[in-house]
Amino acid sequence: MKLAIIGTGYVGLVTGACFAEVGHQVVCVDNDAAKVKLLQDGGMPIYEPGLEELVRKNVGNGRLAFSTSTAEGVQRSDVVFIAVPTPPLSDGAVDLSFIERVARDIAASMTSYKIVVDKSTVPVQTGDKVAETIKRYCKARAEFDVVSNPEFLREGFAVDDLMHPDRVVIGVRSPRPLAAMKEIYAPFNAPLIITDINSAELIKHASNSFLALKISYINAISVICEAAGANVQEVANGMGRDARIGRQFLDASLGFGGSCFPKDLSAFIKIAEQVGYDFGLLKQVQKINEEQMSRFVKKIADTLWVVKDKTIGVLGLAFKQNTDDVRMSPAIELCHRLRKEGAILRVYDPKAAEKARALLGDGVTFVEDMDEVAEGCDALVIATEWEQFKKLDLERARKALTHPILFDGRNLFDPAQMERLGFIYKSIGR
Ligand code: UDX
Repeated sequence: MKLAIIGTGYVGLVTGACFAEVGHQVVCVDNDAAKVKLLQDGGMPIYEPGLEELVRKNVGNGRLAFSTSTAEGVQRSDVVFIAVPTPPLSDGAVDLSFIERVARDIAASMTSYKIVVDKSTVPVQTGDKVAETIKRYCKARAEFDVVSNPEFLREGFAVDDLMHPDRVVIGVRSPRPLAAMKEIYAPFNAPLIITDINSAELIKHASNSFLALKISYINAISVICEAAGANVQEVANGMGRDARIGRQFLDASLGFGGSCFPKDLSAFIKIAEQVGYDFGLLKQVQKINEEQMSRFVKKIADTLWVVKDKTIGVLGLAFKQNTDDVRMSPAIELCHRLRKEGAILRVYDPKAAEKARALLGDGVTFVEDMDEVAEGCDALVIATEWEQFKKLDLERARKALTHPILFDGRNLFDPAQMERLGFIYKSIGR
């Protein structure tokens, strides 16, 4: 089918590339001319495993193109996907101005029947607003249908998540757009969850908030484990074997971050408030997450006694492994807190250093090799769960540190082994 994706961020670009890969004709639109030019010239605005190859291949075979013109995208396509950002406003509610702008642009360019699909994470009832807006601004009075098709991809695994989805949620009102959506997703062989539009929109916020709740739950358990002399990983393993609970998203950490969970939680609390429900449970999820970071910083401060003028090595800047994304990254927040306490930082990340540079000010040295970070440091901190950190040369790190202290915010090492190696090793909930 002929598809346009408006918005070429993480979701839009990966979705466009995967749709092209399964045989659809795709044009990805973005109003950032520099980004479109970069993509047209074979460059990549983001790091995402497997994406570059997929884009190159499908641009090469003529199934994937880039444009700055929404009108061109709409005219060339039967189905138009909206994948623009929905950032938070200062009160936690969602800024829907990009969605509204795109709905108006689509309306202005429509001269024949189109299916307009929302992929961005939006508050329940946004589909109705999009439909109203298109109706209001479409001078040609073209027919259209609105669909909700939320995206569940995880950064770092986005291509795989999209090519092999565990479910595809389609919120529709009538058979015509449903038939088109079924055709688009047929090559993916995924279970389809077909609902009304409001329910589809809610599934996204309810899912992300539940996953955040799972992490805060295990982080709360980690506090009890530390106080009571238990091991949170053992507890998570035991809980996770119950199929009703599951082991995923039970990894205690210095807190969750990223461009989705913090924003979606605030948005969902606000959405609930707007329909008259005080979602106290989710407020607690946020509070536990904030406390987890403060507790980790306190652990560092208590151990070092005085943080001011201490040199601390930080491994990891991305909000999680396999991504260069530093938006709302707990690692960056940690760096800010340590800088505020007067620490001097030596930092390393395999992919996110460049993006982190713009966020971290002076007093921060970027190191090119993870095994060199510990040189001259008073302590080493692991802030992101990059797999390669498990291969850190611990012997070298122990010798390089003025005192062998390692704070592990991601529980990558075995405490007993670290002790044997001569480290003062402090992790989460163990
Ligand atoms: C999330 C959802 O997983 C995805 O379905 C949705 O489409 C977008 O939001 P993403 O933000 O890419 O995806 O990252 P995710 O893998 O969910 O991790 C989010 C944060 O939670 C990271 O900071 C990660 O390190 C942290 N995390 C995750 C934990 O601290 N413990 C865990 O057990 C899992």
